[in-house]
Amino acid sequence: MPAQLDKLLNAEDFRQAARRRLPKSIFEFIDGGAEDEITLRENRTAFERRRIAPRILTDVTEPDLQTDILGTPAAAPLLIAPMGSCMLAWPEADIAIARAAAAHGIPYTLSTMSTTSIERMARAVDGPLWFQLYLFRQREFNAALIERAQKAGYQAMVLTVDLQAGGKRERDLRNGVVLPLRLSLRQIVEGVTHPRWALSMLHGGLPQFENVSGYLSAESAGLTIAARAAQNLDAGFDWGGLARIRELWPGKLIVKGVLHPADAARLVAEGVDGLWVSNHGGRQLDGAIASADALPGIVEATRGDVPIVIDSGVRRGMDVLKARAMGATAAAVGRAVLFGAAVAGEAGAARVVGILIDELQRAMRLAGVPRVSKADGSLLG
Ligand SMILES: Cc1cc2nc3c(=O)[nH]c(=O)nc-3n(C[C@H](O)[C@H](O)[C@H](O)COP(=O)(O)O)c2cc1C
Repeated sequence: MPAQLDKLLNAEDFRQAARRRLPKSIFEFIDGGAEDEITLRENRTAFERRRIAPRILTDVTEPDLQTDILGTPAAAPLLIAPMGSCMLAWPEADIAIARAAAAHGIPYTLSTMSTTSIERMARAVDGPLWFQLYLFRQREFNAALIERAQKAGYQAMVLTVDLQAGGKRERDLRNGVVLPLRLSLRQIVEGVTHPRWALSMLHGGLPQFENVSGYLSAESAGLTIAARAAQNLDAGFDWGGLARIRELWPGKLIVKGVLHPADAARLVAEGVDGLWVSNHGGRQLDGAIASADALPGIVEATRGDVPIVIDSGVRRGMDVLKARAMGATAAAVGRAVLFGAAVAGEAGAARVVGILIDELQRAMRLAGVPRVSKADGSLLG
C-alpha cells in the first residue's frame, strides 16, 4: 500500500482527499445529489439513526464474513454498485475498482454507462462480475447488451428502473459538466489548477461510453450527463417490459431502484430473483425515502422470499451490519469506493473496500456476531 494511503482511515477521509485531488466540477459530479439534496443527506442519517444491541459472551475469535449473494459467493456481504463515467476520477477507474473488488472477493457491478466495455471488463478482471442494464428505447439494442453480458459470463443482471428522467443535479448544471469532456474555458482553468488530474486525463485519453457508443447520438453531447443518457432511455418501460427482459435473461435478475413495498411484492410475484433497494444515492428523485428507511417495509412485504441488496449512504462497515440486521442480504457501495479510486486508482479503491470489511469484522466482534447468518433482526436495538 502506498505510504500515504494508510493515513486515510475511513470513507470520509477518502472523500476529503478526492476533493483536494479532483477539479471542483468532477468532485461535485460524483459527490452531489438532485435538487436540495434532501434524500442524499437522509441516506446517511437513516443509517446513523439505527442502533444495534450487541450480544456478549460469544466466541468471535474469527468472525465468518462469507456470504452468498444471489448465488455469487462473496467474502463479505458487500458489493460494488454500478457507476457510469468513473473515468473522470481516474483513468480506467472501472477496471481499477473491479480489480480491487476481485482482490477482496466481492462482486463488482459494471454499469451500462461505464467507459469500459462488457467484454473488455470480463477480460481484465478475474472476479465475480454483474452487469447493470439501462433500458434504451431501441429494444434490439437492449437485447444485444443482454446477449453480450451473457456471452461474457456475467453472473447476474441488475436492471435499473429509477432513471425514467434525469435527476435535476444543480451542481452539474452550474458547473456545466458535459460528456464527452470538452475543453471549455472552465476545464482548462481546472486542469491548470489540478495538474496531476489533468495529466492523468491526458494520459488516459478522453472517456468513451464503450457499451453504448454505437447508439447514443453525437448531438446529445451538449447536455448534462444525466440528460444525455435520459433522452435515450425508455421512460415507457413498464411491467410488460420487465416480463420481456425476464425472457431474454434466464440468469439471476435483480431490479434496482425499489423503494415501495407494493412494488417489491409485485416484483417477487413476477419472478425476479432479487431486489436492490436504492434511491440512486440521492441523485434522482429528491424527496424520495432514504434506502435504510425503506428497507424494513420492503422486507416485511416480501417476507424474505428473495435476497435484498441495499445501497445509498453506505460509508461504514457498521452500515453493512445494520443493513443485515434490517433484513438485507448485502450492501452495495458507490461513491466511497469511487473516491478511493480518485485518490489512488486500484490501490485506493482496494484500501476503501479493505477498510469497510475491516470495520464490519470489528463491528461483528463487538456486537457478538460470529458469522454473517447471525447478523439478523435480533440485533436491532
Ligand atoms: C458517479 C456515479 C455514477 C452512477 N452511475 C450509475 C449507473 O450508471 N447505473 C446505476 O444503476 N446507478 C448509478 N449510480 C448509482 C449507484 O449505483 C448507487 O445507487 C449509489 O451510488 C449508491 O449510493 P452511495 O454513492 O451513497 O453509495 C451512480 C452513482 C454515482 C455516484
